[in-house]
This record gives sequence, structure tokens and C-alpha cells, in this order.
Amino acid sequence: MSSLGLQGKSAIVTGGASGIGGAITRLFVARGARVVVVDLQQEAGEALARELGESVVFRHGDVSDRAVADLAVTTAVEHFGKLDVLVNNASVSRQKPFEEQTDDDWDLAMNTSLYATRNFMLAALPELKRTGNASVVNFGSGAGLDGQPNQASYAATKEAIRGLSRVVANEWAPHNIRVNVVCPMALTAGVAQWAEARPEQYAQSAAKVPLGRFGDPDRDVAPIVAFLASDDAQYMTGQTVMADGGAIKLR
Ligand SMILES: NC(=O)c1ccc[n+]([C@@H]2O[C@H](COP(=O)([O-])OP(=O)(O)OC[C@H]3O[C@@H](n4cnc5c(N)ncnc54)[C@H](O)[C@@H]3O)[C@@H](O)[C@H]2O)c1
Repeated sequence: MSSLGLQGKSAIVTGGASGIGGAITRLFVARGARVVVVDLQQEAGEALARELGESVVFRHGDVSDRAVADLAVTTAVEHFGKLDVLVNNASVSRQKPFEEQTDDDWDLAMNTSLYATRNFMLAALPELKRTGNASVVNFGSGAGLDGQPNQASYAATKEAIRGLSRVVANEWAPHNIRVNVVCPMALTAGVAQWAEARPEQYAQSAAKVPLGRFGDPDRDVAPIVAFLASDDAQYMTGQTVMADGGAIKLR
């Protein structure tokens, strides 16, 4: 297999119709993978599947729904014969001061991030075990690591995903299923909305990036996810990888 190649791999990418997920889907296909994309955006998902041809199967659904996780796994097996890679990228939250965040705000962040990640990992486990050489890439955030204001529910769910990933990395290592976390910083449409709503916070974040810019989903983030998904990362598990231009340095 070529270096960094994903030739022959079968993957699920949640939130894979746009933003960072869309960039991951495109790069995975370019490197030889086939992808089940799960997303709430029907039009964008169908358009991407049309563009990328038979390497992509789109399933419309909410990642909070356990049945959608089961459907994604069944779809991968039916269309591609197996499942090697799971990317838990989808996530939604509302930014407000902690004391203004409602139960509904917390449910949204937890359901679309932590519980969705849990449900997709559980649904995928039997197939990942069968493959015997599998990779799960979950998504954290600098918001949790850095304690960014207005992000309480989001930061909490993202840090919970890091804890979950470290535990499961240990538990699933005997099956040769690797579990890593990526914390990206990229200028997607969602971030552009946030930047518009909170220009000072955005300017502060951008100014803290040593490499001098917000990342590009295609050029800066997707290649790191593709590396973790590939066999070139076969000796890495339980790690958090910062794809953020050096903004946060983990020790
Ligand atoms: N962009 C950044 O700078 C940044 C920073 C830190 C962490 N992250 C994390 O990276 C990941 C991707 O971020 P992004 O900026 O591309 O987000 P985005 O909002 O641009 O895209 C998210 C995608 O997920 C889909 N989606 C949202 N809710 C869904 C649901 N309930 N069910 C199914 N699909 C759903 C959306 O339709 C969209 O296609 C997220 O986990 C996010 O928290 C991003």
C-alpha cells in the first residue's frame, strides 16, 4: 500500500457532507477509500455523493439517533463489504455564558458529540473487530483544552470525548483497533458564523496561531485525519493530535 494511502478502506464519516467532514470525505476518496457519509444536510450530502460517484454512499440522519449509527454500519457493510475506519466528526452546540446555557443547550452538545461518538463506536465495534486493523478518529476541541468562554457545554462534551477515547484505546488495543482524537482549527462555514457573531473572540483565536492563520479544512486538517486513518499510524493510539497551527501544545 502506498504511504498515507487508504486504498481499499471502508469508512464512515459523520457530518461528512460539509466543513471539515466534507474535506475528509473528499481526501479519503482521493486516497482510495470508500465512504458512508452521514449528515443532516440532505442536499449537500446528495450533491457530494453525486460528485464523488460510487465511492460515496450518503445517508441522511441525525447522529444523535442510535438507529442512524446502526444504519451507517449496515450501509458500509452492504456497499463496501466491511468497515475499517470510523470518523466521528459531527457536532453542534450553542455558545452562551455558562449560566445562560439551558438543559436543551447541554442536551444538544452532549447528544450530537459525546453520545453520538459513543453510539457510533458501539455500533461499529463488531465490524471493526472483524477487520482486525481498524482506526477510529474522534473530534475534540481547543475550546475544551483552552477553556474558551461561552463554550461550557461544548467544551465539556469535547473533553469527555478525549477521556472516552483514551479508555477505549486501551480496551480495544487487543483487537488492533486504534482510537485517536483530532482537535482542529479551521475556517469552515460554521466557524465563519461564529467569527461574525463574536469577532473579538475570533480575532483573539487567530492571533494566537503561531503559523499565522486559521487552518484550511482540505489542506490542513483532512490530511491529519487521513494519516490517523491509514496504516502509517499503526503504532499510534489514545493520542490527541492538535491540527491547529501550533495554537495549543500538549505535554
Ligand atoms: N472548525 C474548527 O475550527 C473546529 C475547532 C474545534 C473543533 N472542531 C470540531 O471539528 C468538527 C467539524 O467541525 P466543522 O467546523 O467542520 O463543523 P461544521 O458545523 O462546519 O460541520 C459539521 C457537519 O456536521 C453536520 N451535522 C451537524 N449536526 C449533525 C447531526 N446532528 N447529525 C448529522 N450531521 C450533523 C453538519 O450538517 C455539517 O455537515 C466538529 O466536531 C467540531 O466540534 C472544529
